[in-house]
Amino acid sequence: KEVKLWGGRFEESVTDAVEKFTESISFDKALYKQDIMGSKAHASMLAKQGLMSDSDRDTILKGLEEIERQIEAGEFLWRTDREDVHMNIEAALTDLVGEPAKKLHTARSRNDQVATDFRLWCRDAIDSIISRIENLQTALVILALQNEGLIVPGYTHLQRAQPVLLQHLLLAYVEQLERDAGRLLDCRARLNFCPLGACALAGTGLPIDRFMTSDSLGFAAPMRNSIDAVSDRDFVLELLSANSITAVHLSRLGEEWVLWASEEFGFLTPSDSVSTGSSIMPQKKNPDPMELVRGKSARVIGDLVTLLVLCKGLPHAYNRDLQEDKEPVFDSVKTIVGMLEVSAEFAQNVAFNRERIQKALPAGHLDATTLADYLVKKGIPFRTSHDIVGRSVALCVSRNCELQDLSLDELNSLSPVFDKDVYEFLGVENSIKKFRSYGSTGSECVAGQLDYWIDKLNIS
Ligand code: ARG
Repeated sequence: KEVKLWGGRFEESVTDAVEKFTESISFDKALYKQDIMGSKAHASMLAKQGLMSDSDRDTILKGLEEIERQIEAGEFLWRTDREDVHMNIEAALTDLVGEPAKKLHTARSRNDQVATDFRLWCRDAIDSIISRIENLQTALVILALQNEGLIVPGYTHLQRAQPVLLQHLLLAYVEQLERDAGRLLDCRARLNFCPLGACALAGTGLPIDRFMTSDSLGFAAPMRNSIDAVSDRDFVLELLSANSITAVHLSRLGEEWVLWASEEFGFLTPSDSVSTGSSIMPQKKNPDPMELVRGKSARVIGDLVTLLVLCKGLPHAYNRDLQEDKEPVFDSVKTIVGMLEVSAEFAQNVAFNRERIQKALPAGHLDATTLADYLVKKGIPFRTSHDIVGRSVALCVSRNCELQDLSLDELNSLSPVFDKDVYEFLGVENSIKKFRSYGSTGSECVAGQLDYWIDKLNIS
C-alpha cells in the first residue's frame, strides 16, 4: 500500500472499510477543474513570493495542465486510496514531475483548498442556472405572444374568481423566475470571496499574498477571517435555498399545467413530443415532464434540508462532516437545471385550447366583482354594492343563469341604481376591459408588461 500524503505519524494503514467509508473521490472528482485552477493560482503566488522557484512553478503548471488533459481524455486513474480529488491530483502531479510538486502544498491545507474549489464550482453553477432561468422566461414570454387576447378564468382557492388574460398569468411566472435569478445573483456576490490562504484554520507565518490568488481566481477579495473561511458553508445553504424556492415555483407551474391538461379542465394540450403513454391503457397521454418537475422539487428541498442538518451541530472551523456537503449540492444543481430545461421545452410544446377555454368562460360569475365596481362608480359604498351583487348572484344560482342574463327589471328589484349601461360591464369580455390599475390584467397594462420582458430578455 502507498503511504498516505499525511502518513508520517502513522504506524498502521487504515482498514479497507475505513478507506471506503471516508473516501470522497467517487464524487468530488467533479471539482477537478476548480482544484487545478486553484493550484495553478497558488503555485504562481508561491513563486512570486519567493516560496518556490520560477522553474518549479513552470514544472508544476505544465504538470497540472497535463493532468487536466488526462482527466478530460478519460486517461486519468482516480484512486480511492488517495482519498479525495485534492490528494489524487497532488499525488499524481508528484508521480509526474517529482520533487517540485512537493512544494505545491506550502501554506495550504485541504480545508482552504476545498472551500475555494467549492466556491468556484458554485459560482459556475449559479451562472448556468441563471442562463436556464432566462431560457424558461423567454419560452414563457413567447408563449404569451402566441396567445394574445386569450382570456382565461382566474382562480383563487381553485374556485372561479375573475377573468384574466392568459398573457398576464404567464408573465406572473416570468416575474417569479426573475426573483429566483436575483436570489442567485445575491448569493453569487456574497460567495465570491476567496478562502485560499486560510490554510487549516489559522492562516500562516509564511509570506503569502492572498490578494494575488483571490484576484487571479476572479474573487472580489480574500475572506477576512481565516477561521470563518474554512468553517462555513452558508454559501451552499444560500444556493440550495435559492434552488428550493425556484423548485417550488416550478412545481406550482407543473401542478397548474398538469391540472389544465386534464379532461376536466382541457385548457391545454401538450404535444406528443412532451407527453408519455401508459403500458396498459392505450388511450393515455400523460403530461409526465411537468409531473416530474413537481416531483423533483422534493429532491431539491431535501438537499437543502440535508445541508442545514449537516451544518447545525458543527463547532468552528473544518470538520470532516463537511465532506458530505458535495453530493446534495451536485444533486440540487443538476436537478434544478433539468427542471428548468424541461419546463422550457414543455412551454415550447403546449397549445392552449381557445375554444374549450372560451366555452368555459361564462360559468362561475367571473364578472361579479366588475359589477360591484360598477355600482361603486354610481356612488354606492363598496360594502353595499358587494351585498347587492351577492344577492344578484344568488338569484342567478337559483335560476341557473349568468349575471348578464338578468333583465334590467330583475336587477332593479335588487337596486334602483342599475341602469341600461350595466350590460357594458357584464360578461367576461366586457368585464376584462374595465381593468386599468397598474399591474392589472387590463390589456394595455399587460401589453406594457410584455414589452418590458421582450426588451429585458432581448426577444426579437
Ligand atoms: N475531502 C475533504 C472534503 O471534501 C477535503 C478536506 C479534508 N480535510 C481534512 N482535514 N481531512 O471536505
